[in-house]
Amino acid sequence: MIKTALSHPNKALVIYWGNENDMLRIPTRSSLSITLQGISHPLDYIVSLRTMPSSKRDKVIIDGIEDKGEIYSHFVHHLAAMRRYTGFKEKVEVTTRKSFPVGSGLAGSAASASALAEAFAGLIGKTADTRLKSIMARRGSGSASRSVLGGFVIWQKGNSNDSSYAEQLFNEHHWDLRNVIAIVSSNPKKIKSIEGMKLSKKTCPEQLYSGFVGVADRHIKQISTALSARDIAKLGAFYEKENYLFRQVCLKTIPPLDYWTKATNDILDKVSDLRNEGITAYAGTDAGPNVHIFTVPKHVERVIRTIQEAEEILDIIHCRVGEGSRLIEEHLT
Ligand code: PMV
Repeated sequence: MIKTALSHPNKALVIYWGNENDMLRIPTRSSLSITLQGISHPLDYIVSLRTMPSSKRDKVIIDGIEDKGEIYSHFVHHLAAMRRYTGFKEKVEVTTRKSFPVGSGLAGSAASASALAEAFAGLIGKTADTRLKSIMARRGSGSASRSVLGGFVIWQKGNSNDSSYAEQLFNEHHWDLRNVIAIVSSNPKKIKSIEGMKLSKKTCPEQLYSGFVGVADRHIKQISTALSARDIAKLGAFYEKENYLFRQVCLKTIPPLDYWTKATNDILDKVSDLRNEGITAYAGTDAGPNVHIFTVPKHVERVIRTIQEAEEILDIIHCRVGEGSRLIEEHLT
């Protein structure tokens, strides 16, 4: 049997950063994100899973080349967690293809782990069960729990494996919001997110980290209200506020997690200048130097023109609100 799934990345407006339980990836705070589908470039991650009834081990093929290293271990670990959860035993051949812009610095872990979970759900005949898929995706990458759903998504942290999953707040047709991503670096992070968030939880001043955890539900409520009203100014203000708080948590971590570069700062300044001219565009980052700008369709061209002037910009990716992970009929060979 073979099943193939396609999935997209997502951008958190209320960020996931730290686990109550690292093994199960049960987070310290709930989060809210928007699933992103590329307009200027594809942002697709495709995974085919082919069962291998007589095999004793899984096989992983990335862009046509068999991997036996770090990626293989990560997939095998993720598959093992999904097998334990569902009782599915067969070994599989995992074939993946990523059509993100080369060197975009977008890691795609949310897209890859959600595509793997979606294809796995296809093998066990549970494609309609979004809760199961979100739980399974979470075990590969926390943020992947949200890419199972399209549109505007909330991951309620829960307190156990079964109660920590994402649900859709509004689907991708609710509001034609746009995300312009300024790519300023294609280098892999020195400290991976999973390690960075552990450090923050352990070393960040207690008051700051508990404040960050404590305010998440309020931020989710405020952002949900702005999304419901399709109010870009309110949405943007809350997005930037949450991002500023995340930045403080990163900087107060030991060692400090300073993900920004000069180009990041330049672009943030340019977006703030645009706002002074009445352009509703709002900027923030993830755990990296690239800048995610949220705006509405009528301002996209102006935003792109403005950030193109920044030094050190490598690429600009224009996205709309995307669909969740889904099965497709074209299988990777
Ligand atoms: O999904 P992970 O385990 O790779 O963690 C990434 C988390 C952030 O992207 C930094 C924030 C988020 O909520 O997406």
